[in-house]
Amino acid sequence: MVRTEKFIPQAIGEIKKAAGTEKVVMALSGGVDSSVCAALAARAIGDQLIPIYIDTGLMRKGETERIKTVFSDIRLQVIDAGDEFLAALAGITDPEAKRKVIGERFIRVFEREAKKSGATCLLQGTIYPDRIESEGGIKSHHNVGGMPLETAFTKVIEPIRDLYKDEVRDVAGALGLPVEIQHRMPFPGPGLAVRILGEVTRDKVAVIREANWIAESEIVEQYHPWQCFAALLGLGTGVKGDNRIHGWIVAIRAVNSRDGMTADPLNIPFADLTRIGARITAEIPSVARVVYDITPKPPATIEYE
Ligand code: XMP
Repeated sequence: MVRTEKFIPQAIGEIKKAAGTEKVVMALSGGVDSSVCAALAARAIGDQLIPIYIDTGLMRKGETERIKTVFSDIRLQVIDAGDEFLAALAGITDPEAKRKVIGERFIRVFEREAKKSGATCLLQGTIYPDRIESEGGIKSHHNVGGMPLETAFTKVIEPIRDLYKDEVRDVAGALGLPVEIQHRMPFPGPGLAVRILGEVTRDKVAVIREANWIAESEIVEQYHPWQCFAALLGLGTGVKGDNRIHGWIVAIRAVNSRDGMTADPLNIPFADLTRIGARITAEIPSVARVVYDITPKPPATIEYE
C-alpha cells in the first residue's frame, strides 16, 4: 500500500511533465488498466486528456452505458463503430483473421478520431508483464490486435508501465474507482467475436451478448470465477413448443486461474447449471441447447477462438 500511496502523486507528476500543454489521447476500454490511466491523467491534466471509447459492437451488454456512467466527470468521446466492425468482419471465419481485422479496424477508427482532436501525445495502459512479453517477443503488448498505436504520435506516455496487475488493482482502489472495475474479469480486446465460432454476424452477436449477460449475472457474484462467459458454438436441433427447431448451441465457460496461462473449470453445482441453462433457453428463443465446458487449459484455451 505504501507503494501505491507514493505511486499516485509520482504518476500524476510524470503525466503533467510529459504532456506539457499538449493534448493527450487514449483508448479507454473500461478494463482496469486503461481506467486507472484515465483516472490518473484526468487528475494530472484535466481537459487536456481526450479519452476515446470505441464501441466495436462486440462489447458486452450494458458496457457502453456503464463506461459513460463511470467516467461521467471526464469528457469521454464515445465512438459508435459497430457497423464498421461488422462490415469488416463479414465473411471472415478464421480466428486469427478475425483478430487481425478487428485490430486493424480499431487502429483506423482510433487514429481517425485522435486526428480530429489535434492531440500529439498518446497515453497507454501498458503494464510491466506486457512490456516483458513484448520485449521477449512473446506477444505484442497492445491487447486489441497486437498492433501499435504509437506511430501517429510524437510522444507516448505509459504511466503504469512498471506495475503488475495486482498493483494496478490496488491503485484503482486508492483512486476510488468502483470496486467492480477494480476486480473486473479479463475481457478480450476482440470482444464477443472470439466467443462466436466462425463468421460474426449481427444476429449471432445479439444472441451471445444476451446469453453472456445471463451467465455472468448467475455466476460472477456467487462463484467469483477468474473468468466466465458464454460462447456460441453453432446450430443444432432442438424442440420448442410443438416444433423441432434448428437453434443455437451455447457453451458456458467458467474458470479459475492465476494468470490465464492455465485454468481449471469451476465446480458449479448441477442444479445451478441446469437453472442457468433453463434461463438461457427460455429467455433467448433461438437457443436450443446449453452445454457446460468441463475442459481445463491445457488442452483447451479459455476463449473459444
Ligand atoms: P486463452 O483463450 O488464450 O486466453 O486461453 C487467455 C486469456 O487471454 C484473454 N484473451 C485475449 N485478450 N486479446 C485480448 O486482449 C485477445 O485476442 C485475447 N485472446 C484471449 C482471454 O480472455 C483470457 O483471459
